Amino acid sequence: MSARPRVVITRRIPAACETEAQSRFDVVLNREDVPLTAAQLGEALRTADGLLPTVTDKLTADVLGVEPRRARIIANFGVGFNNIDIEAARARGLTVTNTPDVLTDDTADIAVTLLLMVARRAGEGERHLRARQWTGWRPTHMLGTKVSGKTLGLIGFGRIAKAVARRAHHGFGMRIIYTDPFPPKPEEAAALGAEGRESVEAVLREADFVSLHCPATPETRHLINADRLRLMRPEAFLVNTARGDVVDEAALIDALQRKRIAGAGLDVFEKEPQVGAPLLAMENVVLLPHLGSATLETRVAMGMRALENLTRFFDGQPVRDRVV
Ligand code: DGY
Repeated sequence: MSARPRVVITRRIPAACETEAQSRFDVVLNREDVPLTAAQLGEALRTADGLLPTVTDKLTADVLGVEPRRARIIANFGVGFNNIDIEAARARGLTVTNTPDVLTDDTADIAVTLLLMVARRAGEGERHLRARQWTGWRPTHMLGTKVSGKTLGLIGFGRIAKAVARRAHHGFGMRIIYTDPFPPKPEEAAALGAEGRESVEAVLREADFVSLHCPATPETRHLINADRLRLMRPEAFLVNTARGDVVDEAALIDALQRKRIAGAGLDVFEKEPQVGAPLLAMENVVLLPHLGSATLETRVAMGMRALENLTRFFDGQPVRDRVV
């Protein structure tokens, strides 16, 4: 019997997935859960047949360029793969996979959570109460913004955006507008009550809430910049569950400070885990530590999906979630 493939898993993943991985492969676990350095990632590529990294492991062209390299597959734990230099991986003949589908609902739930929290001042209200500042109900206390019936603008209309649209339209009676370079089938948009717009600008001008659902690519870096933030209405809110660098965080801070927009709900940040200091002091901003897919069920499903990709690859079958 030939030796089992050696796989390095760069961070702790749910126990059920680590156990499953050990039953299939010769696994190197990161028991301390300390992020690997570039040198350690390179060493993993030199010594293992496959790497199971996650969205915070930066697999740059330099790291992927280690010689001699033993690994032939990178099975990313995450739907996003902007942590990997995809062109360098392609040029070096590496297979890269991701974990789509399984985190769609949870990420949509977090987008809606942020939307509701920021509109209804939920974070601020909780801080107020915990600080024992609440003096009791009164008709003018902590008035927020109504969500039901408002217009939600989606930048990108992929799986997660559609799941947000479903919740917002069917749950809150929201009107949905979207822009996407790859428009959906008309019947799919119609089922979500969603109307396409020709540009990001058109969505920004019209929406009461803007939610970002585009991938992080060189083209979408700082897609939401100072000029585009100026197009939003002063009573509008921005929600970002996509990737931090889709938004120019300094420009967002400036827009919030100048009250050009009403608030923001953010699950992702430009320099994670650092968060622009002024944001921390703003009551009209809800901040979460990249929790989009953070339920046990979904993290197990993500791990199992990454293992499925590895298993198929080592069995010589087409992988399910090929990126390159
Ligand atoms: C992803 O999968 O890309 C998320 O950001 C983490 O779940």
